[in-house]
Amino acid sequence: MKRLKLTIRSVAGAALFGIVLGGSVAIAADGEQLLTSQCAGCHNLTGPAPATLQALRDRKGPDLFYAGNKYKAAWVEQWLQKPQSIRPAGMFYGAHIKPGPKGDEIDAATLTQHPALKADEAQAVTAALMQRKAGSELIAPGAYTPGTISLSTGEMMFDKFRGCLACHEIEPGYGGRSGPEVYTAGARLQEDYLISYLRSPQAWDPKTFMPNKHLSGADLQKFVHYMRLLSEEGQP
Ligand code: HEC
Ligand code: HEC
Repeated sequence: MKRLKLTIRSVAGAALFGIVLGGSVAIAADGEQLLTSQCAGCHNLTGPAPATLQALRDRKGPDLFYAGNKYKAAWVEQWLQKPQSIRPAGMFYGAHIKPGPKGDEIDAATLTQHPALKADEAQAVTAALMQRKAGSELIAPGAYTPGTISLSTGEMMFDKFRGCLACHEIEPGYGGRSGPEVYTAGARLQEDYLISYLRSPQAWDPKTFMPNKHLSGADLQKFVHYMRLLSEEGQP
């Protein structure tokens, strides 16, 4: 069984950043260089997505080769400085659960803390990530039309009508834990990407367990309204 290695954090702290020019001027962090040296071991930066279940299971971190089409830059830059758990059971649910008295439970000992970057490193890495724009042909710019939904309607759709809650948390500790939490998805993910991904998750990630729910155009919009609302709710 593949497990994330704990050695990474020590690697993350090392090398390159302390370099000083002429004794005083620090070299600005080089985003591409950081990605190659510190991130490529866990993240696919060039594609393609896993084509087999084995490759899906072996994936050590989310694919980042279409980061520029997927994430909001401001979120990436902040998160990299203070990473917080997004997938309660890690990248591959089956690899991080153990039997408990009430059924399967998450084996926290198998989960690791994400390496954190300093502010200038995070900024440089984010800029390099946002250059990665694979999958542009799957995105219709402006596909999302801003609008509103009530929290109760959104939750009813997410839970009762479509069963999304079985796999996703809508607040910390509430909801399924096999998929990423969605209470920060509105802050994390670009709206037009969300529309495209929810329409066809397999177009982005052929082997993902996220089901294609064949959502109508109107429902796609409503789910994105709901993700945005959840993220706003979570703000202090
Ligand atoms: C030891 C493996 C490992 C290393 C090294 C690593 N990551 Fe990650 N990364 C992960 C895992 C696992 C997650 C998913 C975390 C979660 O869901 O809670 C993740 C999540 C992320 C995310 C959030 C994306 C998303 O969709 O959840 C970004 C952005 C990211 N990593 C960037 C980086 C960058 C930049 C570096 C290098 C500085 C890096 N990572 C190094 C394993 C790693
Ligand atoms: C069987 C479990 C399951 C169900 C049901 C499910 N999802 Fe997912 N979902 C996943 C998995 C697994 C992923 C991708 C995990 C990854 O990329 O690490 C995902 C990804 C997502 C993402 C992208 C999150 C990100 O950070 O990349 C969103 C948004 C999402 N799902 C919303 C929904 C909505 C809306 C529904 C209901 C219409 C739904 N999901 C139903 C398992 C599920």
